[in-house]
This record gives sequence, C-alpha cells and structure tokens, in this order.
Amino acid sequence: MAKTLFKNAKLVSSDFKSSDHKMAFIVEDGRFSWIGAQNKIPKKQKFQKEFDLMNKLVLPSFIECHTHSVFAGSRAEEFELRNTGVSYLEIAARGGGILSTMKKTRDESAAKLVKKTQMHVDQFLKQGVSTLEIKSGYALDLKNEIKSLEVIKKLKGPRFVSTFLGAHALPPEFKTHAEYLDYLVETVLPVVKKKKLAERVDIFIEQKFFEKGPAEQFLKKAKQMGFQITIHANQLSLSGGVDLALQLNAQSADHSIYLTDDLIQKFSKSKTVAVLLPAADLYMKCAYPPARKLLDAGATVALATDFNPGSCPTQDLSLVGLLARLEMKMTLPEVFTAYTSSAAKALGIFQDEGDFSLGKRANFICTDADLSDFFYSAGATPDHFLFICGKAVRRN
Ligand code: NIG
Ligand code: FE
Repeated sequence: MAKTLFKNAKLVSSDFKSSDHKMAFIVEDGRFSWIGAQNKIPKKQKFQKEFDLMNKLVLPSFIECHTHSVFAGSRAEEFELRNTGVSYLEIAARGGGILSTMKKTRDESAAKLVKKTQMHVDQFLKQGVSTLEIKSGYALDLKNEIKSLEVIKKLKGPRFVSTFLGAHALPPEFKTHAEYLDYLVETVLPVVKKKKLAERVDIFIEQKFFEKGPAEQFLKKAKQMGFQITIHANQLSLSGGVDLALQLNAQSADHSIYLTDDLIQKFSKSKTVAVLLPAADLYMKCAYPPARKLLDAGATVALATDFNPGSCPTQDLSLVGLLARLEMKMTLPEVFTAYTSSAAKALGIFQDEGDFSLGKRANFICTDADLSDFFYSAGATPDHFLFICGKAVRRN
C-alpha cells in the first residue's frame, strides 16, 4: 500500500486553540495511519512520497454541509423586490421564488446544469472545501429531480453528499401538499433509492410550504426506505420542524432560527445537529439563530452557506464564519469546529472525516497564515494548499 510521509507540520489542536510545531503524519490509502512528533517518525518504513510542509499550519479542510448548488438561472431581480419590501412568502405566492427557479431548472439540459454546477463546486473547492453537500429540489417532478441528482454524480473535486429535497415547494401539477408527498413516496423516492442517487431526504417545513403533520408521515416513510433525514426547520417561524427533527432523530435541523428554551435543551440532549445558515439570514433580513445559547447548552452546531439562487446567492464561507462571529457570538474555535467536525456529524460521516483521527480521510489545508486570519476578511480565504485523501488538489 502506498505510504506518504508529511513532515514539518504545525498541526492545529483538536479544539482549534493552539498548534503543535514539528509534527508529522503518514497517509496510507488516503487515510491517516500515523500522527506524531517529528522525531518519532517510525523508522524502517519505506515511503513512496515525502512532503516537507515547511512548518506550515495544518488544519482539517472544510465541510460545507448545506447547499442547493444545482439550479438554472438567477433570481437577481427578486432580490431588488425583496429589498423594496415585498416578502419572501409574497414573492412565492406570485409564482416567483422556488417555483421560478423550478421552471428554469426543468428546461435546462443536464449537460448545461453539470457545467454550471461544476463552476459552483470549483468556487467551494477554492475555499478549502473537501466535502460538499448538494440538494436537489428545484425540479419537483420525477424526470427532472432525477436529472438534478444525476448531475451531482457527474461533478468532480470534493466528496459529494447528495440530498433529495423534492419536498421543497408544491409544484403546479398538484393541488394539495398531501397528494404531492404521496407522489414523492410512491413514484420518486423508489427511483432515487434504486439508482442510489441520494442517501438523505430533506423537507421544507413552514406554513405555505409543508406542514408538520404530513411531513412526519413523509419522513417516516423515507426512513423506512432507508434514507437518513434532515429538515429545513424553523426558518421563518416556530413551524414544528425542529420538534420533528428531534423526535425522528434527524441528522440535522437546518436554519433553526426560531427556538424556545425547551427546544434548545432538547437539542443539547440529542445527536441532531443544529446547522446554522447566517448568510441566508443576512439576505432574508431575519433574526440570527441563538448559536450562543445552543453551544452553552451543549448542542452540536454546524455552519454552512445555504448557497441557492433565492435566499442566499453567495458561496462565501468567510462571510458565514464572519457573521457567526459578529452576529451570533461564536468564538473562532467554535466556527472552525462548526465547519469541520460538527459539519461531518450533520452529514453522518464523522466516523470517516472531520478531524485528524487515525483511520479517517486525510483531508486538510496547509497554509502560512494563522488561524486568526480565517473568517476575518469577508470574501477572502487565506492562501493555502488543499489535500483530499492525502493528495494535493489545488492551491489557492
Ligand atoms: O434554505 N428555505 C427553503 N429553501 C432555501 C431557499 C430556496 C430558495 O429561495 O430558492 C433555503 O433558504
Ligand atoms: Fe437551504
């Protein structure tokens, strides 16, 4: 098995509070097989490759755990409407919002979607993202939801986690949400499963979108079919989405802006991760989630962009971290944790990546910058090299 030695690393501690000089590690078959002090490198070992990291800082690469990166068109004109006072729900009621992206996505060829989405992927990769979650949810019919998920399979660069978000909004072909959810369970999910196009199922629980009751039946059926679940929860109101996520042991409850003290306590006792999306909150001009209360209670908090053409047309991780620090009182180590190990937990892949543990994928960033240079300047990621499974992927 090919072994690569990385030496002279300034390895960041697991709590992102300090770093140890003169560390080394060995990567075998894409995974960490040994980590230790520079002067303890196992002797009598043959290395196929050696990298001298020249005392650069080495930290886990980023895991972006919530995006809607497959879509056609833009909603730039809608931004101006919202900014002049027309609400998100009003725009949706006029046939704009998610349904306007749906029309464009249905009409777009798979090849064009692959090209456009790959550009988004490259933008994440440039910022040190080694694992990227992407949801479907802008097609809302069998043919085009499958098309969207198949697009994800054709992308290159990071590791991808695909999520089926057919339950994003009610498409015009259906009169009621219940009928549409039945169609998803009976007609779409079996194909997603058979073709192995997604491991997870998501739903947008909110008034005028999907209500808690029908969502519960839908998610229970998805679970029975072997999907993991995640929920767009409590973004615009106390919609019951977080309660349901906790009740069903969902991997994550995303947005989680409207929370009672009781829900915060329940979060802290559960494995469900609160995925917070402050760049979307900035664009939506809504309150920021109570990150401090969640963290102080002991809940697991992850951060992500929520990149999509409507509520969050930015892919900027630095802005997300900056807002978490400025507006949500998160410390810098908490932001790093939220974008690495906690994001891995949100995607159910923490046994495989998210920190420097033996046996995990050797995904890391090395840089001449300090930790304090990250999540500091909006729009800027410090220069770095990204390694995925021990292989240099790109320099930024
Ligand atoms: O996470 N809230 C639901 N879905 C997206 C927005 C989708 C859109 O506006 O296109 C979100 O904010
Ligand atoms: Fe989202």
